[in-house]
Amino acid sequence: MDDGRDEDTNADRAATEERRTEALDVLRSNRAEGYTIPSATLYPFQWNWDSAFIALGLAGVEPAAAKEEVESLCAATWESGLLPHIVFHTDAEGYFPGPEEWGVDVEETATSGITQPPMVVPAVRRIYEETGDDGFLDRVYPALERHLEWWVRERSFDTSVVYVRHPWETGMDDSPAWTDPLAAFDPGEVVYEREDRKSDELADQRPTDWDYDRYVSLVREARAVDWDEFDLRESCPFLVEDALTNAIFVRACDDFAALAAARGDDTAATTWREQAEQSREAIRDRLWDEELGTFVSYDRVGDRKLEANSVAGLASVFGEIPTKQQFERLRRTLRDDLLAYEFAVPSYVGDAFDPDRYWRGPVWINTNWLVADGLRRYGSADLADRIDRDSRRLVEREGFFEYFNPETGEGRGSDRFSWSAALYLELTDSA
Ligand code: GLC
Repeated sequence: MDDGRDEDTNADRAATEERRTEALDVLRSNRAEGYTIPSATLYPFQWNWDSAFIALGLAGVEPAAAKEEVESLCAATWESGLLPHIVFHTDAEGYFPGPEEWGVDVEETATSGITQPPMVVPAVRRIYEETGDDGFLDRVYPALERHLEWWVRERSFDTSVVYVRHPWETGMDDSPAWTDPLAAFDPGEVVYEREDRKSDELADQRPTDWDYDRYVSLVREARAVDWDEFDLRESCPFLVEDALTNAIFVRACDDFAALAAARGDDTAATTWREQAEQSREAIRDRLWDEELGTFVSYDRVGDRKLEANSVAGLASVFGEIPTKQQFERLRRTLRDDLLAYEFAVPSYVGDAFDPDRYWRGPVWINTNWLVADGLRRYGSADLADRIDRDSRRLVEREGFFEYFNPETGEGRGSDRFSWSAALYLELTDSA
């Protein structure tokens, strides 16, 4: 027995335990009534896919909080089935764009008028498998079903591939993939005041004003037609079939089918399994880019592929989108281009790469988690382990930052960021 190694292992375990305690502290201090804010400095409300990642991380440690997180989100589902990207449970002074800008209320709670990837369904499956709580599943099931039906009915041209109508809906707000479709329209003069770049330091890490003018004008145009999706399908200048949203949508359909089966609803289980398969086939066909060796997004307004090598394409594995052959090629892209950095996985590589700016290069813990989960589904445990290791290394060195420079590992954006803390709990669950 090598005692030196044992001591190291014990010291590592103790350090991990300490970090886990800090992670719980971050989540508890960011927790409000029934939900958790992403960060106290930048995002003081409930965000849609943030809540899903937070609930996933809490499922094994504080299942009651995980359930509450999801239930409070589901309660904000619109009658149509749209699940808003922000729920403003409290007054939103000092936040832009706040409730006055969106002008929407659900049961007297203000919400935004756009959505985010339906991560809530995989999160619910995870919580259900952890707790076996049928009452919880009964309570959230109708909202989840309505939401998935909404994607198919209101957000797809062919009932297979889903689209977004605002870059914020992808969760990867300022990805270089959106530059061309955003450049193709003139937002005119847009008057507003940003609240997210108050410190000079953050100015280099946040989206630019050029992006922001377009973000705001897309919100205002959608509000002007009262968020009518069929009207917007004709008039919105930004309609994109995003690779990441589609991967998560397909996984959500599969996971919903599993939940339906658990409730004994075989008809619904079959319907959603078939939906997943139909969507998968259409995505493979439309979004695969052989030259880049990854999945890309498709611009429905400009009728073109948006050639960008980003983590969105890689995350296709989360929805088991790639065929065997596509996966072999995708794995090469991962090895050659994305794992070339000290820390995996940069959110984007290519001409517009910026290691410090938001979704234009930095590593994010949530997308790392999606990719690692998907890689295991394809039997690539070695690559998944490398990615998980990097996520842990970043957090252990820097703290629970929002994103990280892939070259130096430095933490960027806001500190004490909830999903970085929650997913650290998830990554170290059995450690
Ligand atoms: C930013 C991120 C988005 C996230 C939100 C709240 O807008 O781009 O993915 O949901 O912040 O954390």
